Amino acid sequence: MKALILAGGKGTRLKPITNTLAKQLLPVANKPILFYVLDQVIESGITDIGIIVSPETGNAIKEAIADGPEWTAKITYISQPEPLGLAHAVKTAQDFLGSSPFLMFLGDNLIQGGVKAFVDEFDSRGPDALVLLKEVADPRFFGVAELDASGKVMRLVEKPKEPKSNLALVGAYLFTPEIHKAIAQIKPSWRGELEITDAIQKLFDMGKTVQSHILKGWWLDTGKKDDLLEANRVVLDDLLKPSIKGEVDSKSQVAGRVEIREGAKVENSTVRGPVSIAQRCHIRNSFIGPFTSIGASTVIEDSSIEHSVILESSHIYRIERLVDSVIGRGVELNKADERFKAVKLFVGDDARIEL
Ligand code: G1P
Repeated sequence: MKALILAGGKGTRLKPITNTLAKQLLPVANKPILFYVLDQVIESGITDIGIIVSPETGNAIKEAIADGPEWTAKITYISQPEPLGLAHAVKTAQDFLGSSPFLMFLGDNLIQGGVKAFVDEFDSRGPDALVLLKEVADPRFFGVAELDASGKVMRLVEKPKEPKSNLALVGAYLFTPEIHKAIAQIKPSWRGELEITDAIQKLFDMGKTVQSHILKGWWLDTGKKDDLLEANRVVLDDLLKPSIKGEVDSKSQVAGRVEIREGAKVENSTVRGPVSIAQRCHIRNSFIGPFTSIGASTVIEDSSIEHSVILESSHIYRIERLVDSVIGRGVELNKADERFKAVKLFVGDDARIEL
């Protein structure tokens, strides 16, 4: 069994942050989303992993993985020249995949508890495709599955205007090599992409077995700002291990589950978890509230921050109440006058803001 992780695409729904950063490298609880995906693939027992990358962000992804922890898997990079769809990505990876069954995992999806159980289920039940489904509030933004009364997959439609069910296709799929024959027979969709959803429907039309598994735990698709904040909230809540390796002075209070990494300093501040503060951050005279992640080397002074993701090397100064915000790298944010209003921001890298 091989794995194909998709880490290409343009990340248009996360602009401007993705102008300079691959969406799969955005941090959730101070760890790139792609690293959770890699961990989960390796945990499932797969050691031969292909990663689809784009010409724009491929190098950044390779560097991040090389600088990351030691991966106990063989990683092959495959460049997809243009983002022409998930099925197109599989086509691009055909040499790598050969005649192996494979797990395909979208590099910006997080699944509670990982994918080992589904890989095992695929091995023991032996279908040509096993898809994961999750009930969602608005299925129009996803691939949608229609099941019959016995729970058998009957039809799959990509982003239907009028969905016939609320079961979305989660970004992790298991296939036998039959999927390549199906992909060879589909045409680009209205958005100009070769859709994996259409390929699975084709597989079904070819008389092959398509099975499904409805996820009970959380599934996070981190493609948009609020999704990223939600992923950060859920992962901090669920997976954060408390650990204080940085310095906290006697005038500070740290409560709840908090991670403060090496070289970080907290002075005269309150940190109320779950919170992750990365290495070399400096927090002074501030309140860091629940569900916040602060990237490496960021400085926060005389400010209050809650439910936000701040990337590395930013400087936040005298912001009385920053909430529900995603702040890119190297951002300088400070308050110019005394009037106060809560601020909500979605700001790209290297922005300069005075409020
Ligand atoms: C893709 C798939 C869609 C699936 C979703 C899961 O959508 O086409 O069927 O439900 O991933 O994240 P996209 O992110 O390309 O819009």
